[in-house]
Amino acid sequence: MNRTFNLSALVREDLQDMIPYDAPYYADVIKLDANENPYGFPPEVLNQIFREISAGDLCRYPDAAALTLRKCLSDYILVKPDNIMVGNGSDELILNLMLAFASGAKYAVATPTFSMYGVHGRIASGTLLEVPRLDDFSIDVDGLINAASKPEVKVVVICSPNSPTGNAVLPGEIEKVLRQANAIVVVDEAYNEFGGESCVPLLDSYANLVILRTFSKAFGMAGLRVGYLLADIRVINELLKVKQPYNLNVFSQAAACAVMRNLPPFKDRIKNILQEREKLFEELSKIPGVKAFPTQANFIMFRTALPADKIYNGLLGQGVLIRNVDGPLLPGCLRVSLGTAEENRIFMEKLKSIIKSG
Ligand SMILES: Cc1ncc(COP(=O)(O)O)c(C=O)c1O
Repeated sequence: MNRTFNLSALVREDLQDMIPYDAPYYADVIKLDANENPYGFPPEVLNQIFREISAGDLCRYPDAAALTLRKCLSDYILVKPDNIMVGNGSDELILNLMLAFASGAKYAVATPTFSMYGVHGRIASGTLLEVPRLDDFSIDVDGLINAASKPEVKVVVICSPNSPTGNAVLPGEIEKVLRQANAIVVVDEAYNEFGGESCVPLLDSYANLVILRTFSKAFGMAGLRVGYLLADIRVINELLKVKQPYNLNVFSQAAACAVMRNLPPFKDRIKNILQEREKLFEELSKIPGVKAFPTQANFIMFRTALPADKIYNGLLGQGVLIRNVDGPLLPGCLRVSLGTAEENRIFMEKLKSIIKSG
């Protein structure tokens, strides 16, 4: 036994009051909390992946450069493979961006937004500078330009369509920031397949633009953890310095390639989700006292006259898990992901009954 071991003398002081990220896991609930694709993987694509992977593949390390996948993505996005980097979910790429550029510096984020920018920025020893969105959740362009012009700010993050608010930013607004920024401007387009205009056409003109994408939402691969980013090769070369060598496993690489080669079933699923979005938005808006916020993503943020906790717990008690995003920037707000037609019907039925019983 080592009696002199003193853990508290070894831990990072700046992380002492940090609470580890916790994603609640409940078996047997209707899961509408994480903006996943509710339709499951097309069996024919799954079979194709299993056919492609041989036992030999599994005992070797994966291609660290994920060249085949980057070529598939290049055909999909029309951006050269050299300008593409893949990650173990876009979460990992956010961490890489923060480690490569924001460590010991400041990073500006248009808030309220996805929490992982703050989590990974902190892990990388960066300091968060919040640039609050305006009342309609559009970005504060002048505020972001101001932040991005400070020499100590190395990264600016804008999510579009934004989670959890659902609104998208026009590329013209982002271009104003890009033009004046001395920082890397990250545009997280995780929900781009569901709406909003992409910033991809700006890539050739702005070496400081980084676009993040994921296979977790439109392509139903949240369980396989594949994300990618698009950027100038010089930016990618910096990111490669902090990348885990074999970050994307053999199976995930093969699965993402199979998705790229079989887009029609995924496009059908996206179409269904968009139809459900319209239906659910209309139904939510009809409930007295409920405000549903317009969305371009696969989720809807809403507020009711009751406390958000009461709605969240009431739904969970009846087997429906959504996200409570209530807080100073989003008072009383909740976010529901679009599920299948049946899941959405059950959610609406339970929500109405909770509101009715007050
Ligand atoms: C805006 C945004 N970016 C990134 C992610 C993370 O995606 P991934 O599963 O690729 O790590 C999410 C997941 O919810 C998200 O909402």
